[in-house]
Amino acid sequence: MIASDKDAERRVLLQTKKLVKTFSHGGTQQHVLKNLDLLLYEGDFTVIMGSSGSGKSTLLYALSGMDKPTLGEISFGGSEMTRMSNDQLAVFRRSHCGFVFQQIHMLDTMSVLDNVLTSAYLVQKNRAEAVRIAREMLTRVGLDANTQKRFPSQISGGEAQRAAIIRALINSPKAIFADEPTGALNRAASESVLELLTEVNEQGQSIVMVTHDVKTALRGNRILYLQDGIVMDELRLPSYRGNSDSERLAQLQDFLAKLGW
Ligand SMILES: Nc1ncnc2c1ncn2[C@@H]1O[C@H](COP(=O)(O)OP(=O)(O)OP(=O)(O)O)[C@@H](O)[C@H]1O
Ligand SMILES: [Mg+2]
Repeated sequence: MIASDKDAERRVLLQTKKLVKTFSHGGTQQHVLKNLDLLLYEGDFTVIMGSSGSGKSTLLYALSGMDKPTLGEISFGGSEMTRMSNDQLAVFRRSHCGFVFQQIHMLDTMSVLDNVLTSAYLVQKNRAEAVRIAREMLTRVGLDANTQKRFPSQISGGEAQRAAIIRALINSPKAIFADEPTGALNRAASESVLELLTEVNEQGQSIVMVTHDVKTALRGNRILYLQDGIVMDELRLPSYRGNSDSERLAQLQDFLAKLGW
């Protein structure tokens, strides 16, 4: 990948070296990530695109420390994640990474509010403060006090996804990894989630988001295209400016068309 001059001045958030992820299916092996080298920068809103099965979720799991690669190195803010024990990795992940899954994982025996607080308690000791922040953030994405009291089975998929996003944001992690965060949402719910991600990014948190949706991808300032187990190409975009972004949309459509999207 060709680095631009500006990259030399930017702080590296994450770096992978020769990242390999291989899955075994019975006797056969599937090589999903193949010596993938990548640099992610602090403050970027990075978007990962690529066809279904190209390894986007696999890459996101590796980058966020949710799963270990088969081979290769990942350093996050200068810490070598791939050398950490599972326990060290879990502690590191909780304090630095927020994760929004492609499939929503919520504990059905707890209210929406308590689901959000499960991750807040891990790094914040002040319960009252954590509750205040959780309530405020949930309200902002349209989940009012009444919805916060309900169990996940009593709310819609879109509402559950918004709660899952707040759970990822609650500790103000350095990086937020979001796997198709708006895949299950209608346009209005998507917009509120994307606004929230854009806002936390503007405040300095780095975002790494997987999406299939071109309009959703326009939130990013760097688009990576995953193919054949590596980052095949990338596009830099000026920062998101809102709905009148027709020039950026044309750039992104052109980039994707060249890759056979
Ligand atoms: N835990 C696993 N065990 C075995 N194979 C897996 C596992 N996770 C993913 N795979 C396989 O690795 C490949 C890449 O999967 P991955 O979920 O990363 O794709 P993706 O790009 O996120 O696709 P989608 O856009 O459909 O979400 C797929 O062929 C998938 O079946
Ligand atoms: Mg996926």
